[in-house]
Amino acid sequence: MSVIKSKSASETEKTGAALGAALPYGAVVALFGDLGAGKTAFTRGFAKGMGIDCDVTSPTFAIMNDYFSAGKHLYHFDMYRVSGYEDLFSTGYFDFCGGDGSVIIEWSENIEEFLPADCVRISISKTDDENERLIEISGYDYENTGD
Ligand SMILES: Nc1ncnc2c1ncn2[C@@H]1O[C@H](COP(=O)(O)OP(=O)(O)OP(=O)(O)O)[C@@H](O)[C@H]1O
Ligand SMILES: [Mg+2]
Repeated sequence: MSVIKSKSASETEKTGAALGAALPYGAVVALFGDLGAGKTAFTRGFAKGMGIDCDVTSPTFAIMNDYFSAGKHLYHFDMYRVSGYEDLFSTGYFDFCGGDGSVIIEWSENIEEFLPADCVRISISKTDDENERLIEISGYDYENTGD
């Protein structure tokens, strides 16, 4: 597991971008962390790192945003309002995981039992400093991405 200290939203984006550039297309990334932790900021960077040039916003009401650019999809889920299998099934999640595109999921806490075993897990937590976050990465050897 790697732990990265971020001092600003743009540093969190940068970490997301490094991961977005490093992971293979089709990866599933599960984000964990409270309201305002920086999951959307991380996702914004992740899309950029994949070479996707789209406006990234929390899909809280839509549940899923599909970013498509340069021939690639990034499916951005927000599971804040999702609970249970039926609910999750109706979002199309099971088709998108392992489908044609990468997947990144906010509020993975709510669907933890349905995450693929080989997903990359990112947990973002706040510290005493209001602009500081700890980003824990597991399921991928981030230390060796050359960031
Ligand atoms: N080091 C940091 N990393 C990320 N965000 C930071 C950091 N420091 C301050 N912030 C601020 O925290 C907020 C993070 O917002 P963001 O929408 O990314 O959170 P979120 O985890 O997606 O929240 P939600 O659960 O509501 O979707 C932004 O206002 C951002 O400017
Ligand atoms: Mg968000």
